[in-house]
Amino acid sequence: MPTEPPAPPAARTPRESESVLGESMMPDQLNNNGTVFGGAILALVDKVGGVVARRHARKPVVTVSIDRVEFREPVFAGEYVVAAGRMASAGRTSMDIVVTVEAEDLMTGVKRRTNRCWLTFVALGTDGRPSPVPALTLETDEDRRLHDIAARRRARMLDDEREEWS
Ligand SMILES: CC(C)(COP(=O)(O)OP(=O)(O)OC[C@H]1O[C@@H](n2cnc3c(N)ncnc32)[C@H](O)[C@@H]1OP(=O)(O)O)[C@@H](O)C(=O)NCCC(=O)NCCS
Repeated sequence: MPTEPPAPPAARTPRESESVLGESMMPDQLNNNGTVFGGAILALVDKVGGVVARRHARKPVVTVSIDRVEFREPVFAGEYVVAAGRMASAGRTSMDIVVTVEAEDLMTGVKRRTNRCWLTFVALGTDGRPSPVPALTLETDEDRRLHDIAARRRARMLDDEREEWS
């Protein structure tokens, strides 16, 4: 007899959902300058963010925003790129996630942080509409620091939206 899935907990910590995704960059991922195409990095960022969001919500999710993507350094073919994502803040149905990207030269072992991005995902119910997610329990100083940054970013975003649509 089919059993009901267990009820989700009221809250989860960032540690419970943090996730890492790595990929060795191949020649077909290069742009016209011979460095890695930004879209390849973005795909990795979006994928790891989606894993974090699904681990936190244990529901299907969609990306609603990828905010302020900065490419601080080029990534080269053959480098091993690792994207690490963690929850920064949970709203009612939305989740703000920060992803940091590091590129490793596999010949030397030297690692460089190349990107940091903020993403918002929304959990969906069986009706395809936004659905509640567990709250976020902040355990460490780093959890609290990222949570504060996420709150300030969201306030700034709402201000910008108000200005753009007024
Ligand atoms: C995500 C989606 C379901 C939200 O629908 P909606 O009618 O705007 O829903 P709501 O207004 O109830 O907002 C839901 C949540 O999203 C948040 N949200 C909406 N737009 C946002 C944005 N641009 N940036 C950040 N958060 C946003 C709201 O603040 C709300 O958060 P909360 O519940 O934690 O308070 C809808 O916009 C959608 O389907 N977008 C397409 C997603 C997609 O295809 N992504 C690419 C492929 S994965």
